[in-house]
Amino acid sequence: MDSPITLFPWDNISHSVDEPLLRILHSGEIRQGFQVDLFEEKIGEYIGNRQILTTCSGTAALQLALRAGKIGYVNGGTIKDEVITTPMTCVATNMPIFGAGAIPVFADIHADTGLINVDSVEKKITRFTKAIICVHWGGLPCDMVNLREIAKKYNLLLVEDAAHAFGATEIGTQNNIGNHSADITMFSFQALKQITCIDGGALSIADPGIYRLAKLARWYGIDRDRAPIDSRHEEDIEEWGLKWHMNDVNATIGIEQIKFASFILDSQRHNASTISSNIDHDRFRPAFKKQALAHSSFWLFTILLRDQEDRLKFIKYMREKNIRVSQIHTRNDHQKVFAPFNRGSLPGVDSFFERMICIPVHYKLTPNDIDRITDALEGFNKETS
Ligand SMILES: Cc1ncc(COP(=O)(O)O)c(C=O)c1O
Repeated sequence: MDSPITLFPWDNISHSVDEPLLRILHSGEIRQGFQVDLFEEKIGEYIGNRQILTTCSGTAALQLALRAGKIGYVNGGTIKDEVITTPMTCVATNMPIFGAGAIPVFADIHADTGLINVDSVEKKITRFTKAIICVHWGGLPCDMVNLREIAKKYNLLLVEDAAHAFGATEIGTQNNIGNHSADITMFSFQALKQITCIDGGALSIADPGIYRLAKLARWYGIDRDRAPIDSRHEEDIEEWGLKWHMNDVNATIGIEQIKFASFILDSQRHNASTISSNIDHDRFRPAFKKQALAHSSFWLFTILLRDQEDRLKFIKYMREKNIRVSQIHTRNDHQKVFAPFNRGSLPGVDSFFERMICIPVHYKLTPNDIDRITDALEGFNKETS
């Protein structure tokens, strides 16, 4: 059998990490310090916004975003605060809404892309709505121009879950995701993400006031910038917070990995383009429009099959070819924990979720791997036509 083609790079850490990592491990400076500052500077340089705060995970970053945006009764909002969000995502997008003491309200998505449908978002707005969370599925950017307009019109906090989308750019404006594309943008640097620091996340924040509060809240509300009276300076805490910060060990890995960001993005876009031009779009509909080839980060390459039965056959066929494919995430509205909050049908989610599957596109694929993937798709097409 051919060697396995994995969905994500098998070894996702550059060897250039080894030496700085060893140095930092034995430096006596392993907690949050200069390396965290430097990683934030590098993220800021890359996306074009200086107000960056790293965190211990993307999930923590989302929790911090809702904290600093004062969404949910835990964070100074009300017990009825609602957050409009997408169910087609990792549960990590929506669990923080519970953590904030707010109510998730699921909007529909576009059946052909999996991205949140702005018309549906507007229809779900009530007098209790406080925020919108959108997710750039697989790195494919949402319609930020219209989401910003809706958020402005109804005075809502706009939060982007860009866990999959580091390096993605808005279609139309060309703006980097995270460069004021929303009030707050969250990134994840978890192990499988294209830029990883093993576990970690970050917020890119547009408003200086939200940034200041988030900076306090990510470490128990303690102002680390104030001259310390003793080494922990815990006096006069005014805002509550938790331990959401990153440490210098993870930051050291992130600093090395982010050097490869452009290479990784270019490679994934190139792979996506090659695969896209070599498959039958009537049979395997890419879940993005052609112009997205230059904008998505292509953490995932999602295609749409005929129906659930077709997808099951496809998964089995690809397994025989030793090529990993996956749905990656399950629609959240069908999870028992979220089901009580459902409001009405979501036909876009129904259609997308039963047909979608993700195929490998990552930056470590070789030309031979790409040939094997496109050959396998062609083979499946012939066998099932
Ligand atoms: C869409 C989405 N949001 C949030 C997260 C959470 O990120 P983390 O694992 O860094 O907490 C993930 C993780 O994979 C994700 O896929």
